[in-house]
Amino acid sequence: MSFPKASMTDSDQNSRDQRYLRLALKLARRGLGNSGPNPSVGAVIVQERQGRTSAQMTGSEIVGVGWTQPGGRPHAEAAALVNAAGDTNGATLYVTLDPCTHQGRSPPCSNAIIEAGIARVVSLGFDPNPEVAVQSQQQIEAAGIIFSRMQGPLRKEAEWSVQGHIQAVQNKRPFFQLKLAVGKDGRVPRGTGKPVWITPQLARAHGHLMRLEADAILVGRRTVQDDDPNLTCRLPGLENRSPIRVVLDSQLRISENSSLVKTASRHPLWIFCSAAAPVERERILREKGADIVRVAQNKTGEGLDLNDIAGHLLTRDVRRVLVEGGPLVAETFCKAGLADEIVIYQGQQRVGAEGIIPFGSGGVIGLTQSPRFQMTEQHIGETLLRRFRRVDG
Ligand SMILES: NC(=O)c1ccc[n+]([C@@H]2O[C@H](COP(=O)([O-])OP(=O)(O)OC[C@H]3O[C@@H](n4cnc5c(N)ncnc54)[C@H](OP(=O)(O)O)[C@@H]3O)[C@@H](O)[C@H]2O)c1
Repeated sequence: MSFPKASMTDSDQNSRDQRYLRLALKLARRGLGNSGPNPSVGAVIVQERQGRTSAQMTGSEIVGVGWTQPGGRPHAEAAALVNAAGDTNGATLYVTLDPCTHQGRSPPCSNAIIEAGIARVVSLGFDPNPEVAVQSQQQIEAAGIIFSRMQGPLRKEAEWSVQGHIQAVQNKRPFFQLKLAVGKDGRVPRGTGKPVWITPQLARAHGHLMRLEADAILVGRRTVQDDDPNLTCRLPGLENRSPIRVVLDSQLRISENSSLVKTASRHPLWIFCSAAAPVERERILREKGADIVRVAQNKTGEGLDLNDIAGHLLTRDVRRVLVEGGPLVAETFCKAGLADEIVIYQGQQRVGAEGIIPFGSGGVIGLTQSPRFQMTEQHIGETLLRRFRRVDG
């Protein structure tokens, strides 16, 4: 006995698509900070089952999931196809970025999708890479596969998850995310040889999650001097996901006794300095395991040229940078037009008059009124987290 085929309305189909795309986005997050130089993508393969008996299932079933693997290979689609173990004929593939069509370090995903007998592809993102743009949809449709791109908030979210890739292709630089913790009065405390915590443990753990989703973490020399940070990811079991540590230090004044230099042979440490930095300092720091990169200075003569640094980071395969420096570094990134996202953790304690107001005289409040950013708010325990995303990003 067979059961009549359940008909699905457009709205059923749409909410089902949204559900699986949401899952694909969650999977994509797993590869952030670990898939460079490739973008981290998520993929889900779903089969429609038509039960022949009352005991057999009717409805959709996930048969494969995948996300971009460490170093960028295999791609998410390839990983999901392997995970589906051959049960792919007639299935739907949900993916957070259009499948690649070019022969890179791995064969094109579009070919693998066609060979696997996938019947429908639902993608969340248009790939700005000229080698993929347009061809992806064309190649897949030419093989008789239905291809659709989802619009709306999920698509925006997907675009943010591949910002490193988008900025690299469109602007030849990495994606920069600025993170700052402020007190209830909006001020940043100054360190006195070790970090001053103004947010509780839960918010700090959330900050460590941001670290693991970055390829590199960047601070200025003053933060090293005042806070002596490690800049590693210290979430249990995820220590090996610590990003590359980057310091801006024009004259290579960083102390050999700083935690960063002492751990340079274990966790990569790159120090950007000016052409005029003392050669002897370079020798000493290199001996300790640090990598020294000489870059141009700002035209004003104050500080290093952030655009030059951005170019160096890109050629070193860095796509996502978490800027965790103090207010000066945050301000110069904003002025250089390099602040793609600003994340502010606001604690419950006041810092007091000795603290610094970040982002010019308007402080964080000024940022909330800026038309250049769109703000969202959430609470991490008792800490208010404000996220400002560049509107034109
Ligand atoms: N609450 C928080 O979230 C947080 C986070 C980090 C730090 N902090 C606090 O912030 C304070 C340090 O803040 P800060 O803003 O003075 O220091 P910073 O941002 O960490 O570093 C600034 C230094 O970086 C170097 N630099 C080189 N090129 C630069 C450029 N283009 N733009 C900016 N800096 C450049 C400069 O030193 P050279 O001229 O020697 O190169 C400059 O003095 C510390 O007391 C620390 O405790 C707070």
